[in-house]
Amino acid sequence: MDWTGPRIDHVGIAVRDLEAAAERYRRLLGTPPAYRERVASDGVDAVVFALGTSRVELLTPFLDGSPVDRFLGKRGEALHHLAYGVVDLRAAMARATAAGAELIDAEPRVGSGGTLVAFLHPKSVHGVLTELVQIDGH
Ligand code: CO
Repeated sequence: MDWTGPRIDHVGIAVRDLEAAAERYRRLLGTPPAYRERVASDGVDAVVFALGTSRVELLTPFLDGSPVDRFLGKRGEALHHLAYGVVDLRAAMARATAAGAELIDAEPRVGSGGTLVAFLHPKSVHGVLTELVQIDGH
């Protein structure tokens, strides 16, 4: 059966030392990173591991005061966000709103890898910063 509903696209983990974290996760996962990326709009550098159709993104801020920098200051290294891949981002945003979730991004915006994304406020989804990311249909 084709699964066209949301799936786990990636998780983001906030880290202080990106190189040390990348080496730890390389050994933990038994695979080298798939790619590195600077997401200027979010003020982060990322090392990304591909695990099947999912990814693990290690994130570190390159700008003081960026959201991940503030997160590290408040919470320390931790799981930062969970991203669901959806085929139709606007439909998923409408469904989230109807479900009582609060959108941080009222409109889709460009996120990592040039994808279209929108974030949901963690307080409205039981404490998890949640990202909706539009994936190609399959
Ligand atoms: Co993300």
